[in-house]
Amino acid sequence: MKILVVKNYEEMSARAAEIFAAQIKSKPDSVLGLATGSTPEGLYGKLAEANARGEVDFAAVRTVNLDEYYPISPENDQSYRYFMNKQLFDRVNIDKANTMVPDGTAKDTDAFCQAYEEKIDAMGGIDMQLLGIGRNGHIGFNEPDGELIPFTHLTALTPSTIVANARFFASEADVPKHALTMGIQSVFKAKKVVMLASGKDKADAVKAMLNGNLNTRCPASLLRLHPDVTVICDEDAYSLVK
Ligand code: F6R
Repeated sequence: MKILVVKNYEEMSARAAEIFAAQIKSKPDSVLGLATGSTPEGLYGKLAEANARGEVDFAAVRTVNLDEYYPISPENDQSYRYFMNKQLFDRVNIDKANTMVPDGTAKDTDAFCQAYEEKIDAMGGIDMQLLGIGRNGHIGFNEPDGELIPFTHLTALTPSTIVANARFFASEADVPKHALTMGIQSVFKAKKVVMLASGKDKADAVKAMLNGNLNTRCPASLLRLHPDVTVICDEDAYSLVK
């Protein structure tokens, strides 16, 4: 695991943008695993700027998103499909047909999840997977638990994640209680993983990920088993690591 500690959110976003731009340059039809939330917004902005300057070409890039609330329609401005369009896809020359976000309207979620996993495999797997970290150590919506479901599945959000995500909704009651998420093993199939963490409210989770035991109670700790992970942390997020 490579750990880069940077000054702040801006620097974290810039370093991540360099890494993703280099990936796309070295393999123009890269399959990128993408995340939503506050953490990657700076990275997506920087990639959009680089695309506008003609430095990064998304024409052949394919993307797979980690997760989506369930149920939710793609037009809902809190859906992760809406977020991805606004933050990245509408700002770069990507073909939207090459972008996959779990379908928050899927009726048969088991069939949907199996097909999602098969589509990732059919694309040759994910070349570079972007991750954020939840305050409780979740990755994707793989919430702390005694056991984890390995592949894409429907899951219930924990009360702490519902509280954390309520900031995006009119009220806590409006936060969907479920999500479709890639599993830990889906993430582990990625050739490279880049995790971003910024801010004091991530310090406990980053400490548990790096210093704690390998444990499904901190899903992010399992990343220590993956052969190619880069963690880019700002000083606040790294502040409790020993
Ligand atoms: C989002 C996702 C989540 C977030 C995590 C951190 O696609 O998979 O695991 O990465 O909840 O969210 P932020 O960045 O909003 O702190």
